[in-house]
Amino acid sequence: MITLGDMSDHYAFVVGLRALRDYQPKPITEEDMTAILEAARWTGSSKNLQNWSFVVVDEPGVKSRFADCGKFTVPIRNAPAAIAIIEEPGGYEFDSGRVAQNIMLAAAAIGIASCPITIHSHQKAAEVLGLPEGRKCRYAVSLGYPAPNAGPKFKGGRKPLDELVHHNRYS
Ligand SMILES: Cc1cc2nc3c(=O)[nH]c(=O)nc-3n(C[C@H](O)[C@H](O)[C@H](O)COP(=O)(O)O)c2cc1C
Repeated sequence: MITLGDMSDHYAFVVGLRALRDYQPKPITEEDMTAILEAARWTGSSKNLQNWSFVVVDEPGVKSRFADCGKFTVPIRNAPAAIAIIEEPGGYEFDSGRVAQNIMLAAAAIGIASCPITIHSHQKAAEVLGLPEGRKCRYAVSLGYPAPNAGPKFKGGRKPLDELVHHNRYS
């Protein structure tokens, strides 16, 4: 558990996280993948229900068919591995988002690049991943050691705070 103190490095780390889509071809070590999955496991969820599970997709044939389940899945094709985030019965999409962010932050902390991926064809993904009835994969995260040229695809940065923030009432 981290303690609150001088958090400037942590703050810069959080603010600096970017989706990276270019990876080295080498596989992710078991130790690194386990560390990422541990961080996923420790994500907070609604009522601490933890209604999620994870499918590590790293077998090339399965990875290719999984990539066919979304419209913008080139990062999965390029990556040595992806984690499919599975909503178990009673799971919330919000919780899947939190898991994805934890996966990305933990990966970055150990030098692994990542990109969140939308899975558009839920039925097809369920077939590819062998999901039992009632489980759904809406999102995945591609993972790999960053290629030397890895950088954000969309250069726009972020909207300024004064476009985003209201106080007490939306105005
Ligand atoms: C819910 C969600 C779904 C996304 N789906 C995809 C996707 O299918 N393919 C992809 O390449 N990037 C996807 N992204 C990544 C976004 O394009 C990325 O977060 C955004 O462009 C900001 O990138 P940056 O952090 O590098 O600036 C997704 C992001 C989110 C939050």
